[in-house]
Parts: sequence; structure tokens; C-alpha cells
Amino acid sequence: MIPSKYEEDELQTLCNEPREGKQMISAATSSDTELNEVDRAAAQFRVQPDARPAEVDAERLYCKLSAMLHDVMPNFEIAAKAEVAAEINRLKIAKRAVILGHNYMEPALFHSIPDFVGDSLELCRLAKQTDQEIIVFCGVRFMAETAKVLNPHKLVLIPSERAGCSLAAGVTAADVRRLKEQFPGVPVVTYVNTYADVKAESDVCCTSSNAAAVVESLHSETVIFLPDEFLAQNVARETGREIIFPTRDPKKLNGTDLNYSLIGWRGRCEVHEKFSVEDIANVRKQFPDAVILAHPECRPEVVAAADYSGSTTAMARYVEQTNAPRYLLLTECSMGDNIAAENPQKEMLRLCSVRCPHMNQITLEDTLESLRHDRFVVDIPADVLARAARAVERMIAIG
Ligand code: 13P
Ligand code: SF4
Repeated sequence: MIPSKYEEDELQTLCNEPREGKQMISAATSSDTELNEVDRAAAQFRVQPDARPAEVDAERLYCKLSAMLHDVMPNFEIAAKAEVAAEINRLKIAKRAVILGHNYMEPALFHSIPDFVGDSLELCRLAKQTDQEIIVFCGVRFMAETAKVLNPHKLVLIPSERAGCSLAAGVTAADVRRLKEQFPGVPVVTYVNTYADVKAESDVCCTSSNAAAVVESLHSETVIFLPDEFLAQNVARETGREIIFPTRDPKKLNGTDLNYSLIGWRGRCEVHEKFSVEDIANVRKQFPDAVILAHPECRPEVVAAADYSGSTTAMARYVEQTNAPRYLLLTECSMGDNIAAENPQKEMLRLCSVRCPHMNQITLEDTLESLRHDRFVVDIPADVLARAARAVERMIAIG
């Protein structure tokens, strides 16, 4: 870890001292000349509506973060992260980059560098609207690919090459082509948690917040829904459809035997599949007043036993807008920290033994290197990109 340049007793008093504008900027690696360049770039920087303010002063950023995160991180780590984050913000402005951050990003990153945060659908929409030249996607590969699909002429960067997704890896373009042969004419809905070549084989994409609406918008008796087994079952329940799961062997199922109306796939999220009804029962025994929220990638019986189910942003809004004694989110644990930081009066329980190893690849340190060296560039072959764009744009048009 990069050490902070402050002693612990300095950190304890830093935010109590009155501080003034730019003279106080002290990001460790910045010279005055660079500052002037940043100021000039900032003057031209067209801030988009609702963008979060970019703090380039490391001390001010430290004070903001420590007010939010003092319960989850020690001061010296917050100070070190604030220095990296301030440097990222300065570079971001100078290079006309926009940073998109998924709700699962770790708290210090989530509350310091993204211009926009949100769930998959919100970030798709924002990626389409940005007027910046570089998009840095603090999320996993399939999300960065979606941003590229919607912005083929922009430079899209992802800070780590290792930020994959078990769900996206669970289905291939060849799998989709085989299903289309097996069920000719049946429209294919693909969850955005897939790679671009899979999206390219699809009629339309969906996210956890619009999956049922997308399926219904097709007005088709039968729909192929890929790749999440549990999301498909949850959508089947919501839309009143029977669901089947053909194996990878097409001979095992006769495509003309249609006493079902949703055709699923056995893909799973390695995080959400681990939450169980027993977890909910145990939490309710200890905390009978806890409100439990489950992401739609959880098993249907878990979603049924929870009090609410929705996308990552829908869950965050639910907590913000209700007044329960305490909440538990059945999703990546960073979400609980991020919500607690913004809503200090709300008590968040956390089940953190299950983490998303892919989302956790994205760090402030790697994001700084990503911006410094324009890496890692997300590229998609033109023909795949054009076909994937049709499916993603069609989803965005549905809502
Ligand atoms: P959201 O679309 O709800 O943000 O979910 C994305 C994801 O990867 C959940 O695991
Ligand atoms: Fe993929 Fe699950 Fe991680 Fe989301 S939480 S990125 S679906 S592995």
C-alpha cells in the first residue's frame, strides 16, 4: 500500500483546521505547473448534469472520505487513498476522461473518483451520453464492453484485465447459435452480464432492473433468456411464464414440444448463488426487525423469502427512502458499506464472506495507472460491435 505522508496525530486534527481554496492543494505528485494545466483543462471541461464534483485537493478529499468511512477504514489508509484519488481526479480532468463506477466498487473508490455511479442500466445510459473522449470503467469487463459498444469511437479503458464475471463466462456465442438452431424464430433476450460476441447473437439485452419489461415487450409466446438461471426463474415468476433449461446437447429436447414459454440457461453468479433461505432465517432470528433485500440474481426461493428484490440501485434507493431499524443486502458486500457511508443514520448488516472477486480487482491504484498509461484498452471487432449495439440500443429504447 502507498504510505500516507501524514502521521496519525496530524490526520486526527487535519479536518478540524479551517482551510482555504487551491493554495491548500497538496497532492503528493503534483507540481505547480501541472496544477495550472489542470486549472486550464478544468475551465474547458464541460461538466455533465448530475456529475459528481471532482475533488483534486487530497486533504479536502481525505476530510470528505474520513467523514464517511471512519467506521470502516483507518485514517492512514483513507489518507493514502485520498492522495491517489486526488491524482486520478486531476488526470481525469486534464485528459477529458469520464469515470463510471458500478455500485459494487469499494467505498474509498466509490466515493472519490467516479463522475457517475449506478447499476448496469444507468451506467449503460450514461456511457451513451458522455461527451468526454475517454471512458474509464470501474466495473467488470462486460460493463466496459457495453460502454465501448455504445461509444465505438471513444477510448474505453478498464483498470484491470482480470475483472471478469462468472455469469458472463457461462455462455458463449456458439451456445447461443446452437439454441437458435434448436428453437428457430424464438427471440433471444440476453442479460447485459455477457460478452459482446454473445450480445451480438441476441435480439435484445436486459439488465436486472428491466428484465421482465424487456421479455414482455417482445409479445412473443416463447422467449430464450440467457444466461442467468435464477434471474430467468425470477422473471418467469414475475411474468407468469413456465421455464425450461435445455442442456448443451440439443438432442435431449424437442424444439416443437412447446409447453413452456421461457427457455433459460444454467449460468450463475458466483456471489448471489451462495445466499440461502437459511441465511435469511438465521438473520431474522437474531434481528427480527431487519429488512432484507435480495438482488434478482439470487435463487427464487431467496428472493421470495426477502422483503424486497431489485437492481443494485433499486436496493440503494429502497434503503434511502424507507425507515427500517436495520437492513441486510444479499449482494456484494461493498454495497452495504457504500450505502452506510451515504446514510450514516441507517444501520446496515453485512454478509461479507461472499465477495465478487472480479469487481474487487478494480482499485484506485490500478485506475491511476490506467489513466496514466491509457490501459487496458477495450476493443471489440467491428462486426461484433455493430450487432451487439443493436441489442443494447434496443434495450435502452425499451427503458
Ligand atoms: P446491477 O445491474 O443490478 O447493477 O447488477 C450487476 C451485477 O453484476 C450484479 O451482480
Ligand atoms: Fe458477475 Fe456476480 Fe460479480 Fe456481478 S457479482 S460481476 S454477476 S460474478
